[in-house]
Amino acid sequence: MKVFLIGFMGSGKTSTGKELAKLLDYRFVDMDDLIVQRAGMSIPEIFSRFGEERFREIETEVLRDLVNEDDLVVSCGGGVVVKERNHFLLKQGGKVVFLMASPEVIYERVKDDTNRPLLNVPDPMDRIRDLLNQRMEKYLNVSDLQIDTDGRSPSEVAEEIARLIRADG
Ligand code: S3P
Repeated sequence: MKVFLIGFMGSGKTSTGKELAKLLDYRFVDMDDLIVQRAGMSIPEIFSRFGEERFREIETEVLRDLVNEDDLVVSCGGGVVVKERNHFLLKQGGKVVFLMASPEVIYERVKDDTNRPLLNVPDPMDRIRDLLNQRMEKYLNVSDLQIDTDGRSPSEVAEEIARLIRADG
């Protein structure tokens, strides 16, 4: 079995994913780390040198490789739902869990981070709302489970996901 955590930047996919992997006794991988490894450069560097489209291509390549793995919790990049080609890979690959967070909470979690080129703009809050609007329907359509993360710790969220996954068999 595989669990894909999807959701906006700052929704807690990585910290929750690490906790969840421990609870399920699965391995944990972060797609952004695999992208950095594959490209041999940081995410801001990929964006500035080759553009977002190239980043999205590498993202899909990484996802394709993961589909063959088992007993894995995957923290996906926030934009993994942008390309329709990834939806089928996610859905056939395992359980897809959408971590939901409000724009205000997202902003607080990401505001000091320089590693997210899409939010490196004069008005990040406006960009967060805009991208969330563009992506919300996709996050909802692709996911099997939706979990609200506002005001909850990664371990609380991970425990709820583990409980729901076990209950589902
Ligand atoms: C992106 C999210 C980032 C990273 C890249 C693009 C997005 O991942 O993949 O900066 O389009 O939302 P996190 O959600 O792990 O920050």
